[in-house]
Amino acid sequence: MDIISALESLAPELEQGLNQASTAEDLESLRVTFLGRKGRLASIMSALPSLEPAERPAAGKAANRVKEELTSLFEAHRAKLLARAEDEFVQRFDPTLPGRQPWEGSSHPITLTMEKICSVFQKLGFDIEGGPEVETDYYNFEALNLPPEHPARDMQDTLYITDNIVLRTQTSAVQVHAMERRKPPLAIVAPGKVYRRDSDITHTPMFHQVEGLMVGENVTLAHLRGILTAFCQAMFGAETRVRFRPSFFPFTEPSAEVDISCCLCHGKGHSNGTPCRVCKGTGWLEILGCGMVDPAVYAYVNYPADITGFAFGLGVERVAMLTYGLGDLRMFFENDARFLRQFV
Ligand code: DAH
Repeated sequence: MDIISALESLAPELEQGLNQASTAEDLESLRVTFLGRKGRLASIMSALPSLEPAERPAAGKAANRVKEELTSLFEAHRAKLLARAEDEFVQRFDPTLPGRQPWEGSSHPITLTMEKICSVFQKLGFDIEGGPEVETDYYNFEALNLPPEHPARDMQDTLYITDNIVLRTQTSAVQVHAMERRKPPLAIVAPGKVYRRDSDITHTPMFHQVEGLMVGENVTLAHLRGILTAFCQAMFGAETRVRFRPSFFPFTEPSAEVDISCCLCHGKGHSNGTPCRVCKGTGWLEILGCGMVDPAVYAYVNYPADITGFAFGLGVERVAMLTYGLGDLRMFFENDARFLRQFV
């Protein structure tokens, strides 16, 4: 067969092949077969030098024409496949389906817990107060009956900015600000961040507390018990039992720590024969510190000597871990969106 008729047979053959080609891969393999460096066209062209010189121009021209023809057959088929794919997509596309909703963000579990705590106390008539996180020694310690050199200062590892300025170690400092600003009677809660030089799996250098203070005429230990019992039951469930254990805080006298019956084992100390992992088998969980405000504190804020009141402080991370059943404090600070987006 002469070269020209060999060339001319290519286009009809390609057309046949294209009729069977339904994917991009089919198309590519045909392109390699016909137009590739070692393809059909190239192999016919390799015979060109063996032609008589007079026959070469016509054969060369035919080869170019056939190459263009093959190329345009390919392009036409490619366009056809593309249009078909688009058609199919449009048919499958359901414009009535809802779009993907981006995550709008949500409140941090610590924020949610702090809001919940405050809202329980607001319903009991407490106002929300705030104070600075950078404090003077006076507000963080001295006016809370912790003069310089007092051994109880060692209860907390303080982060000092200067000898006289600290990152507050306790929201108790807000008690002093509130009493300076306001005359009794008053009932306040102060949520906020506190800082200590402490970092391991159960301690972070920054954490959150809610402080409470109720001062007036004839505020007694019975009020403290009633209010804090009501709070614990609102927060952890009406069946929660509460006990008060004697303790020590420099700014309260007498002082107590409050335990609630364990929210996991309900005070039994065990479940299915094994010690409860939340309360470590005791049936009780320590939840807050409290006491009757020490008269020495009233002296610092010039309150009358016959005034009485109580104060309390609780750790928000601990409450959040108990209410959400979390085992690891670090989750609050890692900002893993998969964890955070579970809280709404
Ligand atoms: N400030 C204490 C602490 O950080 C907690 C506390 C205990 C606050 C007793 C109080 C209180 O108001 O009466 O450990």
